[in-house]
Amino acid sequence: MAEKKFSKNILCIGAGYVGGPTMAVIAAKCPHYKVTIVDINAEKIRQWQTDDLPIYEPGLLDIVKQARGRNLFFSTEIETNITDADIIFVSVNTPTKNFGEGAGKSADLQYWEKTARTILKASKSDKIIVEKSTLPVRTASAMERIVNSNDSGVHFEVVSNPEFLAEGTAIMDLEQPDRVLIGSRETDSGRKARQEIVDIYANWVPRERIITSNIWSSELSKLVANAFLAQRISSINSISALCEKTEADISEVAYAIGMDSRIGSKFLNASVGFGGSCFKKDILNLVYIAESYGLREVAEYWENVIKINEYQENRFVRKMIAAMFNTIAGKRIALFGFAFKADTGDTREAPAITVTRKLVEEHAQVVITDPQALPNAKKDLEDILDRVEFEPDPYKAALGTHALGILTEWDIYRTLDYRRIYDNMIKPAFIFDGRNILDHDKLFEIGFNVYPIGKPAQSHI
Ligand code: UDX
Ligand code: ADP
Repeated sequence: MAEKKFSKNILCIGAGYVGGPTMAVIAAKCPHYKVTIVDINAEKIRQWQTDDLPIYEPGLLDIVKQARGRNLFFSTEIETNITDADIIFVSVNTPTKNFGEGAGKSADLQYWEKTARTILKASKSDKIIVEKSTLPVRTASAMERIVNSNDSGVHFEVVSNPEFLAEGTAIMDLEQPDRVLIGSRETDSGRKARQEIVDIYANWVPRERIITSNIWSSELSKLVANAFLAQRISSINSISALCEKTEADISEVAYAIGMDSRIGSKFLNASVGFGGSCFKKDILNLVYIAESYGLREVAEYWENVIKINEYQENRFVRKMIAAMFNTIAGKRIALFGFAFKADTGDTREAPAITVTRKLVEEHAQVVITDPQALPNAKKDLEDILDRVEFEPDPYKAALGTHALGILTEWDIYRTLDYRRIYDNMIKPAFIFDGRNILDHDKLFEIGFNVYPIGKPAQSHI
């Protein structure tokens, strides 16, 4: 049997943003393990086997190429791979539920539960199941109940190992993580399973960065880490609104407070709002869990982080309308960037979606440009495709527009020839920098009316 070559058989169910990069790094760092990734989506599995990967992530293709065919394999054969695996990472999607009880808040665990049942059905020997997807605290107990509801003598140990990688820096985050967290039941078999997962990461992560905890702390820590990060952005964004009223400058305020080592300087960039598949979903989850335990004040506290984010997105559009003489009907507006952040093609919960829809509601003509995210943007705006245009070249996108909105902090937007862009725009020309990445004084000199986030506007009118 070919498997004899390898000391462990690792399987990952779900070949998405979390499963794909995580397993590619494990395979690259540990040639002595066999790593297989399965998914129900056959097209995705096909793409993982080409040089045109299903997700864009700097450095990912190199890592995949190092291991693919050697000890990294992609497959749609879910059950046989479960049968052969010693350790199964589960990273299927857990979106916010959009129906029934808990709709709009709680996690939709149907993919998760289906996976649990498939694992149960296909297993003929003991397995360790690792929760990689972000899940509500206490999900492991449901997983345990499902998989251990068998009389075949097969034992499953459920371990939590949340993934803290951020998109765009996934490979770096996986190769040099701040910490790896592994939670288990505090039983002999729980601790033994936990140690097996520690051993995997110890192949390349310094031991002091691998921390262990009880399983509930591990599940909850993931939600709380994302809630705290999102809270920082909502905090600074709320202050950006105050800056715009008081002539304070949000960059100066962020710098001044960030010098306090207790506060720290990271994650204090005011913006049009946070996006991404995690922040909103995880906070909603936290809110739902708090509510379900009767902790109303706790739920309300965290819910406000999302409210401020929605406020910030809406405020951006209101500012555009107010600056452009209270009407944007029939005006052409180019949006630079659609991805929820730079260096990714991911548009899940991107502020650009809300901004585009609101501009279209106001009857503006919107042109969207982005170096990676146009295919996803087209899917997100499927119902209004007749009202928006897509143009990969930012110069062409800006032709004949009244205004530009910078929605993603792509490096290429920092160095464009804005004089050339200005010359080809309708006057007065406006620029709304939703990421504060441009040289506002220079833009003003060129002739633009400039509206940053949390800084005084500069207008010729
Ligand atoms: C996040 C967490 O960082 C990561 O640990 C977790 O595993 C998944 O969720 P991600 O969503 O990939 O990662 O991106 P992140 O870099 O956290 O950015 C989230 C959003 O916040 C983006 O829209 C980004 O543009 C925005 N942001 C970030 C700001 O607006 N200002 C900042 O200072 C930082
Ligand atoms: P994440 O950002 O959490 O990685 P993604 O949506 O990118 O989320 O990836 C989750 C993957 O899980 C998808 O590719 C989806 O097809 C896959 N998936 C969902 N349910 C199952 C299942 N029952 N078996 C195998 N794969 C699944």
